[in-house]
Amino acid sequence: MTVRSILAFPDPRLRRRAAPVARVDNKIRQLIDDLLESMYASGGIGLAATQIDVHQRVVVADVSEPGLEPLALVNPKWNPAPGAEVQRHEEGCLSVPEVRAEVPRYSRVLVEALDRDGQPLALEADSLLAICLQHETDHLDGKLFVDYLSPVKREMIRDRLRKQRYVA
Ligand code: NI
Repeated sequence: MTVRSILAFPDPRLRRRAAPVARVDNKIRQLIDDLLESMYASGGIGLAATQIDVHQRVVVADVSEPGLEPLALVNPKWNPAPGAEVQRHEEGCLSVPEVRAEVPRYSRVLVEALDRDGQPLALEADSLLAICLQHETDHLDGKLFVDYLSPVKREMIRDRLRKQRYVA
């Protein structure tokens, strides 16, 4: 397992749309392990392959709730669960360091994907995991949580991160 460096907003590589995985092989399992390792090293609860500059549809999540194992999802797709509501929650992102903002998300989602063995997997997620999985699949489509904010706010965040990088 290798800790990979995480791209930071406004890096244009974060805007690439990831390609579906044709076959879950050892290379994909290696990618999953690297994603988990990189996510834990940064103290995140989710990470998408896009964020380590690998443009394949793979995400991992570990919201550390009792009874929930770390999740690895290949080619994830989600739909709002029946009766799900749109709610605003504060989010952050390892690719947008030290910024938190409220984003509208569905409260419950039905998720379909392949697991690390290439087997189909279906799950219903709520609370933090639901938010996390919507956030991570956005990454695979080149979308960031700051895209839900006003252009003025997004520009402020971009400036702040640029300055931080000059100082660092
Ligand atoms: Ni993120």
